[in-house]
Amino acid sequence: MEKKWWHQSVVYQVYPRSFQDTNGDGIGDLQGVISRLDYLSYLGIDTIWLSPVYESPNDDNGYDISDYQAIMAEFGTMADMEQLISEAKKRGIKIIMDLVVNHTSDEHIWFVEARKNKDNPYRDYYIWRDPLNDDVPNQLRSIFSGSAWQLDEATGQYYLHLYSKKQPDLNWENEKVRQEIHQMMNFWIDKGIGGFRMDVIDTIGKLPDQGITNNGPKLHEYLQEMNQATFGDKDLMTVGETWGATTEIAKLYSDPKRNELSMIFQFEHVGLDQQKGKDKWDLQPLSISELKKVLSKWQTSLGEEGWNSLFWNNHDLPRIISRWGNDQKYREESGKMFAILLHMMKGTPYIYQGEEIGMTNYPISDLSEVEDIESINMYHERLAAGYSKEEILRSINAKGRDNARTPMQWDNSENAGFTTGTPWLHVNPNHQEINVENALKNKESIFYTYKKLIDLRKKNDSIVWGEYQLVHDTPEEVFAYLRLAANEKWLVVGNISDKTQKFTVPNGDFSLVVTNYPQETVPKGEIVLRPYEAFVLHADNK
Ligand code: NOJ
Repeated sequence: MEKKWWHQSVVYQVYPRSFQDTNGDGIGDLQGVISRLDYLSYLGIDTIWLSPVYESPNDDNGYDISDYQAIMAEFGTMADMEQLISEAKKRGIKIIMDLVVNHTSDEHIWFVEARKNKDNPYRDYYIWRDPLNDDVPNQLRSIFSGSAWQLDEATGQYYLHLYSKKQPDLNWENEKVRQEIHQMMNFWIDKGIGGFRMDVIDTIGKLPDQGITNNGPKLHEYLQEMNQATFGDKDLMTVGETWGATTEIAKLYSDPKRNELSMIFQFEHVGLDQQKGKDKWDLQPLSISELKKVLSKWQTSLGEEGWNSLFWNNHDLPRIISRWGNDQKYREESGKMFAILLHMMKGTPYIYQGEEIGMTNYPISDLSEVEDIESINMYHERLAAGYSKEEILRSINAKGRDNARTPMQWDNSENAGFTTGTPWLHVNPNHQEINVENALKNKESIFYTYKKLIDLRKKNDSIVWGEYQLVHDTPEEVFAYLRLAANEKWLVVGNISDKTQKFTVPNGDFSLVVTNYPQETVPKGEIVLRPYEAFVLHADNK
């Protein structure tokens, strides 16, 4: 496989609304991101995925775009955006823009025009259907609860929205739509960005009449066309968000020979704590053997025909320490353990803001504390369906997206150094203890484990390219694997539990490279792993 810069990269996701406010309106902004570039550069990342900063009425916090070529006023101006790109570049950091083209906002000029009348030239930019027996065209459901069809009273037709009513789906079968999107992408490429993260890209080939949303028949055709019309001949990185991808599907997207995307986000591991065939809100305990199985499958299946992204967190997912670790007694240990397990795998690692200091979920006790449209809609739907308030809140506390969206914790001041105003979403009270300032002061903090792992990857090609091999015959809770290269190997071990576990270190002349417990000697032979203990050993392969 031809080596590209993004094979070696570590990406940091910024959710701008919650990262750093500089003008006191309680909402993060682009100047805020600029002001923290030195921090990110010190951490060692070389790519930022910036969640949407385009003009938007914020029904879904910027994932509902009303103008792709303008910046949301709350975040700043186009000049700020250009400054961010150039300031990042000075530090060797590329900016990946979020490309949200499955849908627009209903306030986008295309939709404003489209809904005027059936003959409007923009009508066909969206997906319209006549009522069926005075009702919705079919039973397709929106991911944000309720029907995916909304009646437009004025014209008497329904439009499709896989997300909120204010996020009408674009009609990708319309060539003009595709061309507009390509032009818009080129506008951003010309500004010097490093690539695109493509929002729910697996749904652009949908066939709504047949109830097909993901992986529609023309999906890959559209992506190849997009590749040719925009980034294909540039050295850019692209990552597609694809909820339904299997390893075989992942190859369709990311096999370099097919000229589509650099890589995708697959979500198989993320779904392991939800009941099969049900919603993300229907909780079940994580099976660690399943987690090992799924991640190992992804590690070994793509080979030369694809590339993995590696992540535990993003702005849609609960914080990993609260989710599968221990955010109380073993917050530091479990945070470092997850970092070690992920960053030593093959693929491009992603860090979600605050993950590097071990931020945790923020449990709520009432709906009035929730900002996220997905949680709010689900609450009303389930309440009407007879679920108890307690049960619904349990689901929101476990899986709600606000968990990841509370403001970044920079210091222990009143609003965690995020804003001097009133933050748009509550700051986690644990910022008194968990914050960047404290993390930087303490050489044993989670931050320095991330920094070290990033540095290791930069300096060792074998972490990027080495073969992955699961170590079998361990207790269920122990996740151990090898990374093998021609002349060296890495052994990575993590105890995903708050109990001690037995483990046998294979023979080899290992040295200790990373660990999450104070430890000077190299683990050898039969050992007892402490709660959430994790380490990395290295050996030359003679
Ligand atoms: C996926 C994004 O990550 C999520 O935040 C958003 O709500 C949906 N796509 C719709 O754009």
